[in-house]
Amino acid sequence: MKSRFLMCPPDYFDVEYNINPWMTDNLGRVDSERAKSQWHNLFETLSKYAEIELLEPQLHLPDMVFTANAGLVKGNSFIPSRFQYPERQPEEAHFREWFLSNGYYLVDLASPVSFEGEGDALLQPNNDLLWMGYGFRTDPQTRELIKVLFPQCIALQLVDPRFYHLDTCFCLLPGGQIMYFPQAFSQESRQTIEAHFAIEDRIEIDAEDGLYFACNTVVVENNLILNHASPALIHRLESLGYKAILTPVDEFLKAGGGTKCLVLCL
Ligand code: ARG
Repeated sequence: MKSRFLMCPPDYFDVEYNINPWMTDNLGRVDSERAKSQWHNLFETLSKYAEIELLEPQLHLPDMVFTANAGLVKGNSFIPSRFQYPERQPEEAHFREWFLSNGYYLVDLASPVSFEGEGDALLQPNNDLLWMGYGFRTDPQTRELIKVLFPQCIALQLVDPRFYHLDTCFCLLPGGQIMYFPQAFSQESRQTIEAHFAIEDRIEIDAEDGLYFACNTVVVENNLILNHASPALIHRLESLGYKAILTPVDEFLKAGGGTKCLVLCL
């Protein structure tokens, strides 16, 4: 079955407030035309491998392009996000509305914790294990609340504010490898990762690739669609049978998001 993704066109994308370190020096600095062309290029590239559903963009909700934060899907169920910052909370109603009108069951979290969807919750391909990130945006308590849908879950603590969502520094690959930026995690969480993945399956990203959001990759079978990868990383990925497809989205990096943030798995 073809992968399906939800995306939201960048009509109103901009950096209008400051909720992560990437945004601090980029207020009002987005080149809208360039952002639109990068987004369309990503859309065209992904369309070759997957079906894309589109959500209507909304005026004054500049971060709505980052659909990864809408919530988390499992089959016909959708767990809606609860954004940590008031700036993004008005997005919630629009995401809920889209999922309701597209036949999903909404499964609300039973307590008022913050949870930022697939940005902080990644399902391991070929097994039912969910990896959850906490420390900046998602409350660690969420793990208990989503147990019904995701009984197997490992939580990892994020410690570097530049990598405030799990999907900015952790990418599960279909061959069983993990591509990640070790410094983004607490010592204990690093050990958890090391205990789970054999050394030959751990692709540790250096700061150069990490800061260009190499871990923020859209994975469709063996195709890895990402903003940037150094020649050494491309070589490593190719030797494992992956194809790295570089799709620059640096206008979106100004808001703290790469290719993966612009997509939600349906
Ligand atoms: N400016 C957005 C925020 O800070 C970027 C979200 C990026 N999304 C992601 N899944 N990492 O919330």
